[in-house]
Amino acid sequence: MADLTATKARVAVFISGTGTNMAALLYASRLPTSNYEIVLVASNREDAKGLTLARAEGIATFAQSHRGMERDAHDAAMEQAAQAAGADYIALAGYMRILGTAFVERWSERMLNIHPSLLPRYKGLDTHGRAIAAGDMHGGVSVHLVTADLDGGEVLAQMPVAIEEGDTPETLEARVRFAEHQVYPFALSRHIDRHRTS
Ligand code: GRF
Repeated sequence: MADLTATKARVAVFISGTGTNMAALLYASRLPTSNYEIVLVASNREDAKGLTLARAEGIATFAQSHRGMERDAHDAAMEQAAQAAGADYIALAGYMRILGTAFVERWSERMLNIHPSLLPRYKGLDTHGRAIAAGDMHGGVSVHLVTADLDGGEVLAQMPVAIEEGDTPETLEARVRFAEHQVYPFALSRHIDRHRTS
């Protein structure tokens, strides 16, 4: 049997916006010890800023607006792009679409997401505002496996980020972003190592 760990895992990243986590994953993949490479950056928004960076870095991109499309048809277009790129894993990085159950199940254990809270706290949106309003000492970041249960899959890695006095959702979000950029490449790499050898 071929030694899978001798080759780099192929990762497609799905984004909807700025793509700073995609950039963190990409540059981490270019470190000499990385066990993965980014083979595609795909988006449901043709104007997603992250696509411009990906192109400048020589990464294949795919963009297909979801507007006017059935969910399943849009999912299928995104999945087909990932498959055509030969992706082994999909990393959702600010991808603002809920994927259909069939898609999620086909990529079981092979699709990850980053969420800006210490899951299981604050699933969904406005995580920073909710953490501040609750008087929490920490916000944070979680990387988890994607399952049909929104933001409910197994947590692979987390990092707390201290909430400072006077923090607003925006100031907290900006600091959490630093932590996200560290945690996502780490969690993806470690998951690939464990998953490929299991
Ligand atoms: C991040 O906060 C991530 O946790 C959430 O969406 C945001 C994406 O930011 N899922 P970026 O596009 O990677 O900068």
